[in-house]
Amino acid sequence: MSKGRRLKKIFEIVYEHTLKVLGKKGDYCVSLSLVSKEEIHVLNKQYRDVDRPTDVLTFAFLEGDDAIDLPVCDLGSIIISPEVALEQAKSFSHPEERELAFLFIHGLLHAFGYDHHRSEEEATIMFALQNKILNSLPYHFFASENKVKKLLLDAQSKARAPYSKFRVGALLTTKDGKLHQGFNIENSAYGSCMCGERVALYHTYASGYQKEDIACLDLITDSENVGTPCGECRQVMSELMDRDCPVFIYNKDMSKCRVMTVEELLPAAFSSEDLGL
Ligand code: THU
Repeated sequence: MSKGRRLKKIFEIVYEHTLKVLGKKGDYCVSLSLVSKEEIHVLNKQYRDVDRPTDVLTFAFLEGDDAIDLPVCDLGSIIISPEVALEQAKSFSHPEERELAFLFIHGLLHAFGYDHHRSEEEATIMFALQNKILNSLPYHFFASENKVKKLLLDAQSKARAPYSKFRVGALLTTKDGKLHQGFNIENSAYGSCMCGERVALYHTYASGYQKEDIACLDLITDSENVGTPCGECRQVMSELMDRDCPVFIYNKDMSKCRVMTVEELLPAAFSSEDLGL
C-alpha cells in the first residue's frame, strides 16, 4: 500500500472511531491537510505567533453543535505534520499510527469545541475523552506487526518444554505500545506445567497492567496447523482480558493465522457473576 493510501486509511478509521465514541450521528465535514515540518512552522508563526514547528493545528469553524440544523456541519480545518508525528513516535517508541491517531483525535476534539487552554476543568474533560478514544482504537495502532512477529518468535524460542517438546510463544500487546512475552514452562511434576498464554497474562498483570490495558494477544505453537488455547487458558483469558479482545494464533512457520475474540474462544464463560459477585 502506498504511503498516501496508508495515511488515508489511518485517518478514516480514527475519524469514524472518534465520532462513534463521541456519539456524533450527524453529517460532518472536516478538512485535513498534511504538511511538512517547515510548512507547519510557518503556519504556527503566522496564526499563533509561535516561532517553531508543531505537530497539529486546528482551525475550528464552529463551536460545538451550533450548526446542527444544517445538512452538513463544517468542523473546520486540521493541519498535521506527519514528519513531526514520526519524530515523536520514535521518541516515545510507539507506532507512527498511534501518534497520527493521537494528533488527529486531539484536532477533532478541538474542532468539536473541546479545549484545554481555557480552564483546568475543560482540560481534564478533553484529555480524559482523548485517552478514551485513543485507548479503544484497533490493536494495530499500538504495535507494529513486524515487531510483534519478531518478539513472538523470540518468546517461543525461550519456551521451557523439555518433556513435550511443544513450544508455545505468547505476546501480549498493551495499549501503551509495550509488548509482554510468555512461553510454556514445564516441570518434571507435570501438573506444575504452565501454558504460554497464562505466563504472558500473569507477567503482564505482575508488571502492573489490567484488563482494559490489553490490546491483543498473539500466539504461536510448534504445530503445522493453527492451534487453539487450552480450556484452562480460555477460562483465565475470559476473566483477565476484555471479551472482545482479539487473539491471533499462528502456526509454526506463520504461514497460517486465525483470529478469534476471547468471547469466541469461550462463549458463556463461568465468571464472577456466577458467584453472585
Ligand atoms: N500449552 C500451552 O502453552 N498452551 C496451551 O494452550 C496448550 C498447551 C503447553 C503446555 C505444555 O507445556 C505443552 O504445551 C504441551 O501440552
